[in-house]
Amino acid sequence: MLSSCRVIDLRKISDPRGNLTPIESDSDLPFAVQRIYYLYDVPSGSSRGGHAHRQLHQLIVAVSGSFDVVLDDGFERKSITLNFPNRGLLIVPYIWRELENFSSGSVCVVLASAKYDESDYIRDYETFLNYVR
Ligand code: TYD
Repeated sequence: MLSSCRVIDLRKISDPRGNLTPIESDSDLPFAVQRIYYLYDVPSGSSRGGHAHRQLHQLIVAVSGSFDVVLDDGFERKSITLNFPNRGLLIVPYIWRELENFSSGSVCVVLASAKYDESDYIRDYETFLNYVR
């Protein structure tokens, strides 16, 4: 369900030297982080994602710049713009996601609940619809 995905506000510790945002497993997130990856140097007009996961939980953060995350549970779609380094989008299993409209120089950091496992991916949209409908 799309309502299971939510935007969370992360802490921002500010002082004259700049801002710092910490993210701790279990307390700031509803899962323990097993993997971090990031998308960067995304060409203008390019889109990423285009898949769902069977078990993986993720937190997506625009640590620099902005992009849109389109979420689809097989029944409805919504687009969420991420544009603050202290805001993250939690995505639960069985949600199709597409990331698009990356601003120049943007960086997308993803915290994930498990290590990379290709068998956890659903990369075909019709297959995804068959699972969720
Ligand atoms: P892909 O899932 O297509 O990226 P995105 O979700 O951004 O569209 O992954 C691109 C390639 O990177 C693919 O060959 C799998 C590989 N990959 C890893 O090896 N480890 C990882 O943690 C991730 C996310 C991808």
